[in-house]
Amino acid sequence: MNLELATQQLKRLRDDAQTCTGNGKVASYIPELAKEDPCQLGVSICLPDGTILSAGEADKPFTLQSISKIFSLIVALCQNGQQYVFERVGKEPTGDPFNSIIKLETIKPHKPLNPMINAGAIAVAGMIRGKNVQARLDCILDMLRKMTGNPEIQVNHAVYCSEKKTADRNRALAWFLKDSGVLTGDVEETLDLYFQHCSIEVTAKEVARLGMVLAADGIDVYTGDRVFPAEVARICKTFMVTCGMYNASGEFAIDVGIPAKSGVAGGIMATVPQRMGIGVFGPALDEKGNSVSGVNLLESLSKEWNLGIF
Ligand code: DON
Repeated sequence: MNLELATQQLKRLRDDAQTCTGNGKVASYIPELAKEDPCQLGVSICLPDGTILSAGEADKPFTLQSISKIFSLIVALCQNGQQYVFERVGKEPTGDPFNSIIKLETIKPHKPLNPMINAGAIAVAGMIRGKNVQARLDCILDMLRKMTGNPEIQVNHAVYCSEKKTADRNRALAWFLKDSGVLTGDVEETLDLYFQHCSIEVTAKEVARLGMVLAADGIDVYTGDRVFPAEVARICKTFMVTCGMYNASGEFAIDVGIPAKSGVAGGIMATVPQRMGIGVFGPALDEKGNSVSGVNLLESLSKEWNLGIF
């Protein structure tokens, strides 16, 4: 790959996609997120040799939100194994919005359909082991610090408090899960862990590195260390295809064709097996909660560089 040419192309595609930020709105149900400037768009690409290419606001910190669901799942799988995890959370897409409660009651057994919706991720947070909430959160933080090479990765306290104060629906999901036996243990502690891992702050550059570890089947390309088993990476990438973009995952798989996970702060982590990790930050969201300009940029990048895996 000619890096100079690739960077020029990335800048051009970023500038083109940036024009559609006006078609979206920043998330406001977590009040702190509503303060973001909707016009931002940053993108970074991490290659297998560790080279990073960037354009736009690639160093602007934002919170992982639902992108964190991949990393809590990795920790839960590593600590408990597949059988334990998938006895409590399913493997199927829902077609419903990410915070929907409806199928929790209508489907039997009452376990969440997958770990990428809020109910599923709260169930997964309940599986993360440690002597207290901080120790459980540290399992996720330590792994993210290792994968990004940034020992300073932390929770954004203002965003965490803002979500905690306004999370009635997530509380309802969690208490329903407790009633149906999916969640055991202290519900408020598990919710606290969930709110905190959603509020972990990163940049698009760091998200590109996270995506590259998944692209390399769990190997950190900077150190050569294995961070998690290849089988765990395979499960995550499959969930990214089937459920990573909420109830727009089918459309995204057809139009873009890259495993990806988005979050309501406007981030998207994409992973092209063996080839690259991509981090995007564009806080203006479409009606399903995906970054408008981020999806647009990934679609044009996928077409121009032939990144689709199908
Ligand atoms: O629980 C919430 O609503 C947010 N912390 C995360 C939501 C999000 O990014 C979309 N979820 N799948």
